[in-house]
Amino acid sequence: MTRVPGPRSPRLIQALRVTAQPYGFMVKRRRRYGDVFSTHFPIFGRVVYVADPAEIKRVFAGDAATFHAGEANALALGDALGEHSLLTLDEDRHMSQRKLLLPPFHGERVRRYAEVMAEETAREVDRWPVGPEFELRPRMQAITLEVILRAVFGVRDDARMDLFRERIPRLAETTSVLTWLPFMDRDLGGLSPAARFRRALAAVDGLIYTEIADRRDSEPGEDVLSLLLAARHEDGSPMSDVELRDELMTLLTAGHETSATGLSWAFERLMRTPRVMARAVDAAEAGDDDYLDAVVKETLRIRPVVVDVARKLTRPVEVGGYELPAGTLVLPAIAAVHARPDLYPEPEEFRPERFVDGQPEAYAWIPFGGGVRRCIGASFAQTEMRIVLREVLRRVRLRAPSERPERPSIRHVTVVPARGARAVVTERVAAATGSAPRAAPPPAEPAATPAA
Ligand code: HEM
Repeated sequence: MTRVPGPRSPRLIQALRVTAQPYGFMVKRRRRYGDVFSTHFPIFGRVVYVADPAEIKRVFAGDAATFHAGEANALALGDALGEHSLLTLDEDRHMSQRKLLLPPFHGERVRRYAEVMAEETAREVDRWPVGPEFELRPRMQAITLEVILRAVFGVRDDARMDLFRERIPRLAETTSVLTWLPFMDRDLGGLSPAARFRRALAAVDGLIYTEIADRRDSEPGEDVLSLLLAARHEDGSPMSDVELRDELMTLLTAGHETSATGLSWAFERLMRTPRVMARAVDAAEAGDDDYLDAVVKETLRIRPVVVDVARKLTRPVEVGGYELPAGTLVLPAIAAVHARPDLYPEPEEFRPERFVDGQPEAYAWIPFGGGVRRCIGASFAQTEMRIVLREVLRRVRLRAPSERPERPSIRHVTVVPARGARAVVTERVAAATGSAPRAAPPPAEPAATPAA
């Protein structure tokens, strides 16, 4: 069998290169080795990246029994999600959960959450100081957490909302250490990271189970949990409490940090590209959703929140002309495809017009993965990003404290701006201040993406 080309340096060195340049390493490897290349990692072993849209299509459209995404995700996400999680299941069990979860995330439904998204942004921006430098990323995390708690969990009780706000960030802190250092999974008398993780998880689980129990006894709302309570399996049975808990935890894990990171990059790029910032401000003020949508798409192209997605082969398969053995991790290389000059001329330029004037070729824009594993929150996330951008840009003028772009840095499974997307509010726009969002036309459904 011909070996997939790739560097021969030791695994640790390769892992360090990825950590130092999460986007850059992939782009350089593709330039050097071609559209299919390999890398050797500690823990994951030899993995194969694919950076050609036609070949990526074959992986995404491949048989779900051969290309296991759930097994691959479980390697990176640890065990907080539970045995019913959409992210870590495969084949029939995956499809049956996916059928239950898809309807609440349909574009039509997502539109109903637009008001919550705008309100939470307005409330947050009204607290920003004018003058001092601060990090936007934690502010974006605060907005996206509120949105998940209200739109997805449907929390109505203020005291419980406060408890969620306090306990979820604590859980996020403890999860990341464990995922990358599995050998730290020891209890050590309650003092180890594993013990702290379990306590933090139990604290959030307790709140989720109380929320589920209360909602079973109350009037259904528009939130995702209410819809899941009414959903039925193919045999007519409702979802159990444990299933509901696992999916809520999955939606929280998959949907909170990712959207906040996408937004942080959007501002990081806008603040350093004055021409685009000026056009985006005009679009926000005029209610031009098309341009803001294009800003969202271009952000996710040039700074994808996750650099790749993984499929673990359950049997030998030919990919890109190479026979790969069962057990290989095959990764559509999102960051490398998005940086191809043949698909995106001058790929390093932040130019939303690419998405106003035309659409990329199929499988060339894949920030949400693809096939039967494509992100179910893609419509939700793009709507949220557009609305947060619109509401922020209508209320404040922002500038970067330094012209130097922020370095991409790996945080858990996402790639974030290393300095937290630092910003200065130079001015509040008087007409738009106050917590009530300005009336705006209902957001159009995000354009269907090629990988849908
Ligand atoms: C900018 C924000 C987001 C990005 C970049 C993103 C990206 C992704 C990616 C790359 C995948 C894996 C797809 C694959 O393996 O082919 C995924 C899966 C998933 N995402 Fe998202 N996501 C975002 C927001 C959200 C939101 C807001 C939610 C829900 C509230 C969500 C829920 C999920 C779920 C449940 C899956 C698993 C789907 C499955 O395995 O069937 N995501 N996402």
